[in-house]
Amino acid sequence: MSWSITLTVNGETRRVELDDPRVTLLDLLRERLDLTGSKKGCDRGQCGACTVLLDGRRVNSCLSLAVSHDGAEVVTIEGLAREGVLHPVQAAFIEHDAFQCGYCTPGQIMSAVGLIGEGQAGEDPERVRECMSGNLCRCGAYQGITEAVLDAARRMGADGWEKAA
Ligand code: FES
Ligand code: FES
Repeated sequence: MSWSITLTVNGETRRVELDDPRVTLLDLLRERLDLTGSKKGCDRGQCGACTVLLDGRRVNSCLSLAVSHDGAEVVTIEGLAREGVLHPVQAAFIEHDAFQCGYCTPGQIMSAVGLIGEGQAGEDPERVRECMSGNLCRCGAYQGITEAVLDAARRMGADGWEKAA
C-alpha cells in the first residue's frame, strides 16, 4: 500500500508517494526532498532543531507525520531568503553573533519567524526566552539569539520583511 500526499514546500508544489504512513515530516523533507536545512537533533520533540512552519505555525517536524498534512503549506529555512536577500531574522542572527556551531540555528530561526508572526516577541527579552524555550542550543548562544529576535521583531513589517526606512 502507498499513500500519496501533496505539499506546498517553500512555495513549490511537491507530490510524494509514501510507502509507510509513519514517515515524519522531517524525514520527508530531508530524505525525499533533499531539504537538509532542518536538522535532526533528538528526533523526539525535545530540542527544536527540526522546527519548520506548517500552515504558518511552528512545529517540531520530527513529531509530525507527513501523511496527516496532505495539502499543507510548509516553510523551511531554505525558503526564507528572497531573491538572494536574507530574511530579517537571518540577518539579525548574523549581526548579533547568535550562533556558534550552527546546528540548532535553522530551528531557532524558524521558531523566531513563527513567534514574531504570532505577535509574541514584543520588547520583552523574558517573553522571547520563554517563547524560544523549546529550542535548545548546546553552545549556549542564547544571549545573541534573544537579541537577534528582539532586533528582527523591531525591524520587521507586517509582511515579515524589513520595514521601509
Ligand atoms: S529533532 Fe525534532 S525536536 Fe529535536
Ligand atoms: S549554535 Fe551550536 S547548538 Fe546552537
